Amino acid sequence: MLPQTNSLSLTLDQFYTDTTVTFDDQLTADEVTVNDQLLSPTAAKKVHNFLNLVRQQASRTSFARVTSVNHVPTAAGLASSASAFAALAGAASKAAGMNLDKTALSRLARRGSGSATRSIFGGFVEWEAGHDDLSSRAVPLIEEVTWPIAVVALVLDPHHKKVSSRQGMQSSVTTSPFYPAWKQVVVDDLDAIKPAIRAQDFTTMGETLETNAMRMHALTLSAWPPFSYFNGDTLIAMQMVKGLRAAGLECYYTLDAGPNLKVFCQTADVPAIQDRFARQFGSDNVIVAHPGPGIQFLNEA
Ligand code: ADP
Ligand code: CO
Repeated sequence: MLPQTNSLSLTLDQFYTDTTVTFDDQLTADEVTVNDQLLSPTAAKKVHNFLNLVRQQASRTSFARVTSVNHVPTAAGLASSASAFAALAGAASKAAGMNLDKTALSRLARRGSGSATRSIFGGFVEWEAGHDDLSSRAVPLIEEVTWPIAVVALVLDPHHKKVSSRQGMQSSVTTSPFYPAWKQVVVDDLDAIKPAIRAQDFTTMGETLETNAMRMHALTLSAWPPFSYFNGDTLIAMQMVKGLRAAGLECYYTLDAGPNLKVFCQTADVPAIQDRFARQFGSDNVIVAHPGPGIQFLNEA
């Protein structure tokens, strides 16, 4: 689980996962429940493999009961895997008797889902690609964000996507002729966006994150077979962001491997922007989030 490039994310307060892990000698297999549904062995495979890693590191043999609730649509491009495996890394390692600091947790979470590497930390976080298990980990850029910004998330399709993040990226790497250019784009964009975030330069941050997202999605369109994470509403929402900007409401979108747009704006503009999207997509599908904290341990049995 070593990435091709560094990457940057913003941890959000509204999208998180609550996970409880108990190792139990009585169990004859791992038992994984997500959103009140007991997962089949196939669906639980990623979690099971991850628990094997924790057992190996903690020198334990018993199976575990995992109960997890996502406060984020699952597998829809709203980073459920980031949230889920950050939470699982914390809960499973703690339950196994390990006491890992955040950097070690970040490296462990990486083994479950790459995106989870960053989500151990709050605020703006960079995943340094590194070159081995020790060096590939997250480093917080600004853990406690005091900048009055918000992310308006548009849930345009909450269903499980057909192409997972992992499959989509692997296909882009092996079949898109644009892939080498993308790697350079990421280097240049990180060089531009990190100083902009530190200086609270909203325009540079916004323009950089929006072009960066579109250039990533250009990989999917140029892959073989070509695919896209967009749907019709994604394109409508993108046009609306342009319209909002033209009307003086400065905002910029990004989107991950899924159809759902995340619109960055300044908190003063949230009511107007939220209202515009709610009229188009329904108020239940417009979620206003802010920079949030990283992993938190709620209680220990
Ligand atoms: P997303 O855009 O939501 O991150 P991914 O394709 O990256 O989509 O990851 C989705 C996968 O993450 C799910 O299919 C499942 O394997 C795993 N996942 C999501 N939530 C949980 C959870 N709470 N516990 C365990 N695994 C989860
Ligand atoms: Co993911």
